[in-house]
Amino acid sequence: MERRVLVLGAGGFLGSHLVERLLAAGALVEAVDRSFDKLTVRDPRLSLIEGSVRDLDPARVERAEVVLSLTALCNPALYNTEPLAVIEANYEELAPVADRCATSRTWLVHFSTCEVYGRTSLGLDNRPRDAMSEERSALVLGPIALERWTYACAKQLLERRIWALGRHRGLPFTIVRPFNVVGPRMDFRPGVDGEGTPRVLACFLRALLDGEPLDLVDGGEQRRSFIVVDDFCDAVERILARPEACRGEVINVGNPDNDVSIGELARLLARAYAQRMPGAPPARTRVVSAVAFYGDGYDDTPRRIPDINKADRLLNWRPRRALADALPGIVDDYVRRYGP
Ligand code: UGA
Repeated sequence: MERRVLVLGAGGFLGSHLVERLLAAGALVEAVDRSFDKLTVRDPRLSLIEGSVRDLDPARVERAEVVLSLTALCNPALYNTEPLAVIEANYEELAPVADRCATSRTWLVHFSTCEVYGRTSLGLDNRPRDAMSEERSALVLGPIALERWTYACAKQLLERRIWALGRHRGLPFTIVRPFNVVGPRMDFRPGVDGEGTPRVLACFLRALLDGEPLDLVDGGEQRRSFIVVDDFCDAVERILARPEACRGEVINVGNPDNDVSIGELARLLARAYAQRMPGAPPARTRVVSAVAFYGDGYDDTPRRIPDINKADRLLNWRPRRALADALPGIVDDYVRRYGP
């Protein structure tokens, strides 16, 4: 793939994995981020541009064949504590990037979120449905005072802007909705390379390493469908190889076969951890209320299963990796980075 790719948010979890894939496929990559701690690969085809997307040189967008936009504040603990920063990072800073892509007719592959589906899976006939579908699901957010939905709303507004730019201003775009991607290098360890509360996987790993109980918010019966990062990157590679088929499309990328409760995730992770650290004390869990864990304004989705028929049809892709099989590698990465 001899193509010039501009990756915004290249130093993050998904960005760092995708840049490695792009380089392996022979792309020329311009990588933009505030820090590149997770992107350790070095390659003459890779240029690192340190800085904010706010200061992005428009010439970079113009000369790129495709722009991958990944920058986001995507940590639920921030949605009700730093909502203005969440709106700024997930909408205001990226709207000009989308506009610029429209002006120069640069293909924008924007990474949105499964959170746009909101609190529950609702069909267009107003009946519940199992899986969330790009064309057949409503987007159901909570009331304004439940600031949890600030993120989903900002992401949805950007999707709507990109869609409108596509329909009315000729922007070539593809919107990807990732569903709970997990893998090595996800999030951070509080107090070491980040502050605050990361997403559930990193919360549990931290607790295991510190010999503390794993917090099950409201009991841990809520469910998520986790997709392993390798499967996710395979889907994105296939999108990039199919500009015509994917133009103007919104595509879920997730793994419905890895639908587990958070309590089950805790159990699977504790098992993988015990295998990696045989002398460690047995893992414990404790139930905490959402308000104690996140503060006022939090809300949740009880179950989130992707409908991936469209990805299958457009990309000839289906995810392959089972969550339980991927956890030992994720635990090993965490222990090597942060362990004793
Ligand atoms: C996440 C984020 O909003 C986004 O990063 C993203 O778009 C999307 O989902 C994703 O990862 O693709 P959520 O799934 O709620 O939202 O994020 P987590 O923080 O991983 O929480 C999952 C569930 O675990 C929630 O129900 C939460 O209450 C629970 N949880 C979290 C615990 O039970 N214990 C913890 O220590 C942390």
